[in-house]
Amino acid sequence: MNRTHNNGELRLADVGKKVTLIGWVGKRRNLGSLVFIDLRDRYGYTQILCDENTTEAVKSVRNEYILSVTGEVVERKDKNPKLPTGEIEVKAEKVEIINTAATTPFIIADETDALEDTRLKYRYLDLRRPVLQQKLFTRAKIVKAMHEYLDANEFIEVETPVLAKSTPEGARDYLVPSRVHPGCFYALPQSPQQFKQLLMVAGFERYYQVARCFRDEDLRADRQLDFTQLDIETSFLSQDEILTLTEGLLKKVMKDVKGIDIETPFRRFKYVDAMNMYGSDKPDTRFELKLQDVTEIFRNSEFKAFEEGLAEKGAIKALVVDHCENYSRKEQDKLTDLAKKNGANGLVILKYQNDELEGSAVKFFSEEEKEGLKNALNLTNGDMIMICSGRWIKTCTALGALRSHFGKALGLIKPDTYDFLWIVEFPMFEWSAEDNRYYSEHHPFTRPMDEDLPLLDTDPEQVRSYAYDVVLNGYELGGGSLRIYDCDLQEKIFELLSLSKEEIQNRFGFFIDALKYGTPPHGGLALGLDRVAMILTGSESLRDVIAFPKNASAKDPMSDAPTEVDQKQLDELHIKIVK
Ligand code: AMO
Repeated sequence: MNRTHNNGELRLADVGKKVTLIGWVGKRRNLGSLVFIDLRDRYGYTQILCDENTTEAVKSVRNEYILSVTGEVVERKDKNPKLPTGEIEVKAEKVEIINTAATTPFIIADETDALEDTRLKYRYLDLRRPVLQQKLFTRAKIVKAMHEYLDANEFIEVETPVLAKSTPEGARDYLVPSRVHPGCFYALPQSPQQFKQLLMVAGFERYYQVARCFRDEDLRADRQLDFTQLDIETSFLSQDEILTLTEGLLKKVMKDVKGIDIETPFRRFKYVDAMNMYGSDKPDTRFELKLQDVTEIFRNSEFKAFEEGLAEKGAIKALVVDHCENYSRKEQDKLTDLAKKNGANGLVILKYQNDELEGSAVKFFSEEEKEGLKNALNLTNGDMIMICSGRWIKTCTALGALRSHFGKALGLIKPDTYDFLWIVEFPMFEWSAEDNRYYSEHHPFTRPMDEDLPLLDTDPEQVRSYAYDVVLNGYELGGGSLRIYDCDLQEKIFELLSLSKEEIQNRFGFFIDALKYGTPPHGGLALGLDRVAMILTGSESLRDVIAFPKNASAKDPMSDAPTEVDQKQLDELHIKIVK
């Protein structure tokens, strides 16, 4: 079985060599007296030629059998320029079947029309497809670059527990019942947030971890239940220093993995500006198309939708796309649905044709308003104008969703572009009308901006924080913040988040205690490793860069997890299932 070469390395220069290859049978073509076999391993494919001396030995061979082939490297007559080994083939002298294989449920090749659940059920076969293997190789390269960079910058890798106490990151916890403490539960960490802060209290100064995180949240293409973060924390660094350090890390990743020199520093947008311009706190800036504010033009409008929208300190915003004058009623309805799905009360759609505004809302506009709109938006014939009014955040978000839609629909996105940027100065809190309380926009350990501290008592919604997100091509790659290092302020923030003294003590008592013992100013961030890998491999879903992911309904089709467990296990855990 001693192989001399792998299946991706033989070239014309090797012609004449006697070699032994091992691999899976990718394809087999039987031409009577000759049989061609594509032998595959993780390095590639090599064509094997079996003539009358060896056809008998491969008679029973099927796809995915494992063969050991010894023979001579010869030049191919019909070369395959698409294959790195396409100029040669190995003329088999001896073929040994190392293992047989049952017929696979789908063909092991880059292109497949197998359903995703079938692929996930047989994930070990799916992962044999070279295209998926390459994605995992890229992922490993990304992690390697991260380790190298952080190591060179004096970071220490520390592991933190998986069985822990609940950390608030905004999702639901996965709970693990304790056998020894009936009725008590561990929570799987949504992130190692508190541990890494405690490591700063302990004096490590620079920590990192490739950390598994668990969040019971609704799945999307860019979300998994268990996912991986590159988690970082530092002491005594300013926000600028942390951002610069992260830029250096991503620069190395891009260079090592993609061979691309990205420009640093990344552009930085304040949250409020990103929302105003792009309608998103993770804007895809590979295309321009910006939202425009038209609030002042319609400040005294008699158009009911705008009047209502402006009540409660609302805003009126517009998005203009050109060459869309032929959009049908039905297409316009779809745009309205999209806006509503993203929080808008409604959507006003106008067209600009023959130097005139057209649309059912136009009759409610004064001449001055029409003229104002035309000038402010710089309208030209053929433009379609979409206007939303209502609460600022909803107006921005709804038009932001339309902006993303048009970025794709109109092919505005520059290909092969990696546009990294920072969003900074996030609000500290978000108000939930439903629950009548504030929630942390990032997490409760985030430090409010010094100049906004007085607003904590008067207008918490206006308080900005030292929180930052790094964004790439419309995805939030990572987020972090400077942390509170003073226990009085930390307690105050917990109170603003409507936690009672008792809850604070029960949930965070140990943490507030730790802050009392000389806590250094500290801060950090976490990058979503799966997301980085997804974007750098050009994948549509995180599932493509995770070896064994859950499907869209939070199941693992391969093992069928989650499954019911034995009564005995439940009894030991003091758990009774109520159906
Ligand atoms: P945050 O919650 O913003 O911050 O998470 C950081 C990054 O992790 C990735 N991410 C996810 N990836 C896949 N599936 C998910 N369900 C998922 N949720 C988050 C994203 C995100 O930007 N403790 C803080 C970090 C800090 O303050 O240092 C935290 O976890 O890419």
